[in-house]
Amino acid sequence: MDGNGRWAKKRFLPRFFGHKQGVEAVVKIVQACIDREVEFLTVFAFSSENWKRPSDEVSGLMGLVLAAVSRYLARMGAMGVRIRVIGDREAVSVKLRQAWDEAEASTQHNTKLTLSVAFNYGGRWDIVQACQSAIKAGVQPAELTEACLSEYMALSHAPDPDLFIRTGGEMRISNFLLWQVAYTEFVFSDCLWPEFGEVQLDAAIGLFRQRDRRFGGTAPALAGV
Ligand code: IPE
Ligand code: MG
Repeated sequence: MDGNGRWAKKRFLPRFFGHKQGVEAVVKIVQACIDREVEFLTVFAFSSENWKRPSDEVSGLMGLVLAAVSRYLARMGAMGVRIRVIGDREAVSVKLRQAWDEAEASTQHNTKLTLSVAFNYGGRWDIVQACQSAIKAGVQPAELTEACLSEYMALSHAPDPDLFIRTGGEMRISNFLLWQVAYTEFVFSDCLWPEFGEVQLDAAIGLFRQRDRRFGGTAPALAGV
């Protein structure tokens, strides 16, 4: 979800307002995904590297996330959303950790859409923590297959993503789901995240539909040929 700062700048507003508008965009996209029967949505909210930002922006983001949980948790629950938080929880405040715990516990029986919020998340961190967890669980080197390691990854509750959308015009992964995107289709949109809505989502899904997914094999035979 990139482009919040630029969205605010365009309007001569502080960056914080871009992040605030970004939260509203998340709520709208969750509903749009439910309407389209998408079952898993993962959003990159705060990366392991975002701590490098000025401290007032970081604390603004932390406050915003806390406010968003208290404002939208009940609505998300009513929409049938199950919330999962992926990322390193060690470095976040006790208050935020408690908010995450509450969000996960209160939505754990929901089945319509699983919203995984990547917070203090990094793809490399995820691979390392999965290895550490596997070692701690006593997995032997010969048993450590791809399928086995996948079970220790932060997104083990979800299938590998079909579609990866990055907004804001940059064409890079920025340490998001490195392990899980081996065969994911990528769509890069110039749209700034706060302006990303149903129209842009449908455009991305449209591009996805045109892709020929072979997963390393040869093209599937055309019907009737
Ligand atoms: C992404 O928007 C939101 C977060 C990382 C929290 P940016 O803050 O990166 O927005 P730009 O790239 O400066 O426009
Ligand atoms: Mg950015």
